[in-house]
Amino acid sequence: MDKTQIKVLLVDDDEDDYILTRDWFDKFPESEFQLDWVDSYTQAMTAIALQQHDVYLVDYRLGNRTGLDLLRAAIAKGCVAPIILLTGQGDQGIDLEAMKAGAADYLEKSQLGAPLLERSLRYAIERQRAAQKIREQAALLDLATDAILVRDLENQIIFWNRGAELLYGCQKEQAIGKNASRLWQEQDLQLFPTALSTLIAQGYWQGELQQITSSGQEIIVESRWTLIHDFAAKPQSILVVNTDITQKKQLEAQFLRAQRLESLGTLASGIAHDLNNILAPILMTSQLLESQLEDARSQRLLSIVITNVKRGANLVKQVLSFARGMEGERTLLQVRHLITEIRQIIKETFPKSIEVETILAPDLLAVLGDATQLHQVLMNLCVNARDAMPDGGILTISADNLTIDENYAQMHLDAKVGSYIVITVADTGMGMERDVAERMFEPFFTTKEIGKGTGLGLSTVLGIVKSHNGFIDVDSQVGKGSQFKVYLPAVAATVTSENEPTEFLSGNGETILVVDDEAAIRDITQTTLETYNYGSTASFMVN
Ligand SMILES: Nc1ncnc2c1ncn2[C@@H]1O[C@H](COP(=O)(O)OP(=O)(O)OP(=O)(O)O)[C@@H](O)[C@H]1O
Ligand SMILES: [Mg+2]
Repeated sequence: MDKTQIKVLLVDDDEDDYILTRDWFDKFPESEFQLDWVDSYTQAMTAIALQQHDVYLVDYRLGNRTGLDLLRAAIAKGCVAPIILLTGQGDQGIDLEAMKAGAADYLEKSQLGAPLLERSLRYAIERQRAAQKIREQAALLDLATDAILVRDLENQIIFWNRGAELLYGCQKEQAIGKNASRLWQEQDLQLFPTALSTLIAQGYWQGELQQITSSGQEIIVESRWTLIHDFAAKPQSILVVNTDITQKKQLEAQFLRAQRLESLGTLASGIAHDLNNILAPILMTSQLLESQLEDARSQRLLSIVITNVKRGANLVKQVLSFARGMEGERTLLQVRHLITEIRQIIKETFPKSIEVETILAPDLLAVLGDATQLHQVLMNLCVNARDAMPDGGILTISADNLTIDENYAQMHLDAKVGSYIVITVADTGMGMERDVAERMFEPFFTTKEIGKGTGLGLSTVLGIVKSHNGFIDVDSQVGKGSQFKVYLPAVAATVTSENEPTEFLSGNGETILVVDDEAAIRDITQTTLETYNYGSTASFMVN
């Protein structure tokens, strides 16, 4: 105990008793105790309300009230300082009642002396300080964001902090005494026996657990278990600290997927770039020959070459576009028009067993984008939805405004705080297994028969959406259907504009410098330019 003054208030209606008590105080070996005295119940209540004393010594007899009445009234008023009850002879039998009411101690005056009184005062204060410390620690545990709980070896909850209430959606009053298996479910039950034997052997276990809360939410927690022993060193209970890492894990998975897509994209784009360099001179040469070889047979053959080279070039363009991101035009456009257009195409071309619904927010914001590319995005998603519903179903296209806040932005790698529009393409088709959903955005990944799908649809969709600074969210359930949500940054404007057609212009003998690292491309570009009336050109090799 430190040497600060301890103020004691004696509540006793007998002055002789006060004098006697004061004498005992004078005999205490340490002089840090200071004694005050009041002689009535009312004065005592006033003094207690002022909270200026560290401990109260209360006589049982207080006129027409008792010390027990005072004790109960003081505790009801929130008094936390210890109250020691004093009784004369003949008041026995009330000690138990006094303890139940919250008395720190119960002393018989007839047996009291200076040493006993001093010890009782010191113990009362020490106990009160210890209790205060425990209260503070419990409050600290409630401040922690982690779920902290203690369960006994039968899995019954005996401690449950505020973090646990929030994580598992269950109040302390309901959780205490319940079996943990009724508050959440472990997904990986096989892990449990090993975890428990490690805990028993080493006193500690740490690992990741996938759980389902009673509201059906799937969570991942980093769990730390510590074995608590009783006085006889027998294992008694388990202290569990669970940190919610669901969001972190989801971001990690998103990041890994993005990285895998990026490296696949780099690989595909490398091949596509080389192919492009092979196809470009073939196309240019054929087009040039077309205008020079006029016999019908050559024209027919050249047209076959040109059509096929164009097909090849288109495929290459598609690969390059998702790998490198697309440039494209950026005009202000209303997605509403796009969706109406798509709806029309679907109605005319999709099987009648597929019902189409469109739900558009009336005040839908505009986006800055390339109409052709966004058309392609929606068309790809709708065709996938059609393919997922061979026996028919409902295809819903909806569009809405959405404000993304800090919380949401943290959950998705590419999301930023701000205004978005979200276009949802939902089907009631076959849905996807986890392994398909994991890989659907990979270039050339398809589950369709050979010749039915190239597996470039979704990679192109992702490429376009990314180049529009947007992102995609997919939700799919096997047998129930899939939902693709495309988020695009919104612009606060409602103007629309059309793409203007481009025209091929002839030159007037201007000189043009052609720079390319491929000799064939340099040559053919030079020849083409000259054919279209541009002046003599020079070409250079660059590395
Ligand atoms: N709405 C959907 N429902 C169920 N599975 C889908 C859906 N959309 C995509 N998938 C799955 O993702 C795979 C990849 O889709 P993606 O559009 O990239 O290629 P594809 O449709 O197979 O071929 P392509 O689009 O090039 O013709 C599909 O083969 C299919 O397994
Ligand atoms: Mg597709």
